[in-house]
Amino acid sequence: MHDEETHSLATSRTAPRVDTIELVRIDPAGADREELIAFMTGEVFPFHVGIRPTRAQVEEGIAAGRFRDDDNDSFWIDHVEHGRIGFFRLEEISDGAPLFDLRLASVWRGRGLAKDVLATAADHVFTTMPEVDRFEGQTREDNRAMRRIFDACGWVQEAYYREGWPVEGSEPLGSVAYSILRRDWETGEVTPLRWS
Ligand SMILES: CC(C)(COP(=O)(O)OP(=O)(O)OC[C@H]1O[C@@H](n2cnc3c(N)ncnc32)[C@H](O)[C@@H]1OP(=O)(O)O)[C@@H](O)C(=O)NCCC(=O)NCCS
Repeated sequence: MHDEETHSLATSRTAPRVDTIELVRIDPAGADREELIAFMTGEVFPFHVGIRPTRAQVEEGIAAGRFRDDDNDSFWIDHVEHGRIGFFRLEEISDGAPLFDLRLASVWRGRGLAKDVLATAADHVFTTMPEVDRFEGQTREDNRAMRRIFDACGWVQEAYYREGWPVEGSEPLGSVAYSILRRDWETGEVTPLRWS
């Protein structure tokens, strides 16, 4: 699928509220530590900069606060029927426009579940963070499934960083940036982007 086609598939409405997904806050240095390490090291993340995180990297991330500190907060993604399906993290919270990291366990990928996760994440951010008016996401240009989900949820692509995504052992790829506005989340209407 070409970018123009992806763009033309963008919906003019944000995702409806769902009740299939619960975000369960993770205690990364305490009760959830081993499960978090097992999840991160037991999966492959083909579109992340670190495709196969090692135990040492995850432990270092926990110690550095990358799963919970003033800027980061992490959650298990629990599905009402399937149970625990993945991991979700908010990043750069103190900037006032958080980003996210979404990782379904491989067994739950390709089943159309992430759309409800992203809708629930927007509900969480705009409900619990009254100072936040923009919720942002970035992904690699060839992550078609993620980009399709952004479109389906009424997020708007705002940037395309050419060669902005480092790829281990290969040339860099593009990075694409999307966001949803609080206003759009409230009204269900997508504010269009005008380049000029
Ligand atoms: C990326 C991810 C969140 C997508 O969630 P998912 O629930 O597995 O998404 P699906 O595979 O069901 O695909 C969602 C949509 O994209 C479409 N799609 C999937 N792969 C595609 C491809 N290669 N080309 C075009 N469309 C594609 C699907 O057909 C589906 O469209 P539909 O809603 O019209 O049916 C999930 O696979 C994941 O966690 N991957 C690993 C981590 C990751 O890459 N996270 C994103 C970084 S922020």
